[in-house]
Amino acid sequence: MHPPKPASRPEKTSLWRYVKLFRDDILSAQPAKLYRAKMAEFKTPFFRSYLVNQPDLIDLVLKERPMDFPKSNRISEGLRPLLGNSVFLTNGETWQRQRRIIDPAFEGGRLRDTFPAMVAAGQAAATRLADGVQEIEAQTSHAAADVIFRTLFSIPIEHEIAAQVFSEFRDYQRTQPILNIAAFVPLPKWMPRFHKKQTRVAARSIRALITQLTEQRMEQIRAGTAPDDLATKIMTTKDPQTGETFTTQEMVDQVAIFFLAGHETSASALAWALYLLATHPEAQARCAEEAADFGTDPQFADMSKLRFTRDVFREALRLYPPVPMMVREATQPEHFRNRDVPKGSQIVLSPWHVHRHELLWDNPDGFDPDRYATPEGKECLRHAFIPFSAGSRVCTGAGFAMVEGPLLLATVLQKWRFDPVADKVPDPVAHLTVRARDGIWLQAIARE
Ligand code: HEM
Repeated sequence: MHPPKPASRPEKTSLWRYVKLFRDDILSAQPAKLYRAKMAEFKTPFFRSYLVNQPDLIDLVLKERPMDFPKSNRISEGLRPLLGNSVFLTNGETWQRQRRIIDPAFEGGRLRDTFPAMVAAGQAAATRLADGVQEIEAQTSHAAADVIFRTLFSIPIEHEIAAQVFSEFRDYQRTQPILNIAAFVPLPKWMPRFHKKQTRVAARSIRALITQLTEQRMEQIRAGTAPDDLATKIMTTKDPQTGETFTTQEMVDQVAIFFLAGHETSASALAWALYLLATHPEAQARCAEEAADFGTDPQFADMSKLRFTRDVFREALRLYPPVPMMVREATQPEHFRNRDVPKGSQIVLSPWHVHRHELLWDNPDGFDPDRYATPEGKECLRHAFIPFSAGSRVCTGAGFAMVEGPLLLATVLQKWRFDPVADKVPDPVAHLTVRARDGIWLQAIARE
């Protein structure tokens, strides 16, 4: 049996029905042919977008000419109240400058430094779990938020402000999906928008909390008492071109996106990974063996012991990419696969479809972590695996997440075994990230 996949919509659907389906879930709003198409065009009276599934065209947009395909401003419509001018939303010069300051904090050497904080978060997550049936996304969300606070600000999730940010974010999520229909479709003005007021109130309150943390840190840096964590690193890094550092306000914008992009995504991937393991007991046993060998006082170099666990995490990212689709805008006329793509068109890149593409992957809907050890699987990793996007605008946290994911799985599997719960098969839907409509329910059983 294949892991759950949303049903596709019928081939012929009216625009009105499409908009309705789309608001409910962008995955099941699409026709099945997108799993076979190299490119597809959505032409309606209101908009024109092109979904691109062909690896060399994806490379063109993301790697070869990224500056010609900036992020579509529409994405920011709902996120700007929370994210301000964060690196996730900016384009051009501002974006380049921000990446010059942020990227050094996520380089390999720094990952080694943040490793102990991640281990502590993993062990805390394993301790929080209880015997019995439970909704696992809530647990992984808690754990991933803990990782962000410990690595960024050296505080655990139990810290008063951290706990408040975490809980406010849950409210915010309910009001504002990261990828809403507005990202794809320039909706006519008369169409109702999402809960703007609630979104603004939640965003203001989260930003006030993050501002407190950032201001405190600014003072500690001035006093020479700041801990050596990601926040200090980012706040003291000078732009090599201008010599300037981030102002407090700019840092607040970045912290907001680290929290949003860094915890929702990892939480979703971890929850799906645990579900895949619960439904594939042999794979779970292999991961548990690696976890036992990893030990309870691991060093960064011990990550090499978690090879199979890493491939399980990759399968979770492939089958349930936390960011299912990305949107760019063509700033000039293009010609893709013998088709004219007019200036201003939306270019949709869909990890969801690329990762399950029938012309690219063997057994695309099946769970098979061993595929990455084969030459075909390695080739697919290079060309048809884009959970973190690619090119200069690739996720800054990709390396971080590829340590965090396997590490958290290992620390949790050291203590717990997971079984599926009868009649509770999760139904994937794309909300803020790819989530299960009614959560992911698993039974945890303590290991000896
Ligand atoms: C499994 C975990 C993660 C996944 C699947 C993921 C995925 C992505 C994707 C697909 C993008 C590109 C979005 C687009 O171009 O529209 C992105 C951007 C970003 N991610 Fe991640 N991410 C993860 C974890 C993290 C973590 C842990 C952090 C930071 C601590 C982070 C920070 C960011 C930032 C700052 C951007 C914006 C980069 C830019 O636009 O230049 N992410 N992420």
